[in-house]
Amino acid sequence: MRQAMANAEVGDDVYGEDPTTTELEERTAALLGHQAGLFCPSGSMANMLGVWSLVPVGGEILCDQRAHIVRAEMGAHAVLNGITMRTWAPTSGVSGIAQTSDIAELIATGCGPYLVETAAIAIENTHNFGGGTIHPIEMLRASHRLCRATGIGMHLDGARLWNAHRATGVSMAEYGSLFDTVSVCYSKGMGAPVGSVLVSSTERIARARVQRKRLGGGMRQSGILAAAALYALDHGIDRLADDHANAKLLAEQIAVAAPGAVDPEEVATNIVVIDSGEQPAAELVMAARGQGLLISKVGSHQLRAVTHLGVDTEACRWAGAIIGGLLAS
Ligand SMILES: Cc1ncc(COP(=O)(O)O)c(C=O)c1O
Repeated sequence: MRQAMANAEVGDDVYGEDPTTTELEERTAALLGHQAGLFCPSGSMANMLGVWSLVPVGGEILCDQRAHIVRAEMGAHAVLNGITMRTWAPTSGVSGIAQTSDIAELIATGCGPYLVETAAIAIENTHNFGGGTIHPIEMLRASHRLCRATGIGMHLDGARLWNAHRATGVSMAEYGSLFDTVSVCYSKGMGAPVGSVLVSSTERIARARVQRKRLGGGMRQSGILAAAALYALDHGIDRLADDHANAKLLAEQIAVAAPGAVDPEEVATNIVVIDSGEQPAAELVMAARGQGLLISKVGSHQLRAVTHLGVDTEACRWAGAIIGGLLAS
């Protein structure tokens, strides 16, 4: 990847003259079955632009109560774009995963001057805070039909769509075809240092390109970064199966030491959410750090471990032994 970055052919992308960035945008759009793509410095910006292109000022987007766009994008959609959000509490029984009926309940259209108008929904696949869980394709198809029938847009926060694709075999194009705008991250499990791509129609991406510049996201010789993403595209997808197997192994090891802390059957991709039981998660984070293991806290009694390119099976066994030991103590 470093070599590919060093060898990248570059130009000034603000003028559309960086061939490597253009190649990344075109390949990502084609993969997801869309007309055009836009390279963004982060997944947050790609989401922000996707949502902005679907929802007018004063309109709302609906999403899951633990969606990244509502919890972790620092209110950007409201602060910068005048967009409000309402959230559904998923009832499917799988963490973070909605049923189409959860969404249908919330849609408000044609309400005149009384209620905020729903302009779009956003679905996160895989679901980060849900624990890397995957929305079933049937649910996505049903939600697509619902949104088409009600005339509202659909954004896919596909930061880890690669993981859903690798785990289910559903093609990126099939996922992409169900949404008006899709963001995917080349950082995270795909291993690039920086970079996400938003895909959509030619017209929406042209508008988003202007808005990206407005936000200060126009990049010059971005081909150096796009080359890393292209490398990830060519070498990163198959490898995600290793991360999924490592996450499962980690969960199994923890479950043996501390039954009930995690159900390995629920580990669908590369994220393991661990219940810390009686012990506050913050204390476990500190104790793990003392043994050289970095793990994050996602709730007062919940830890989150993510497997990725930087950790192999051996490292996951080592981590599983430490976490299991701390939980059992
Ligand atoms: C589901 C999801 N969407 C979007 C993002 C934002 O990506 P970035 O950190 O590149 O802004 C993240 C980051 O963790 C994420 O998990």
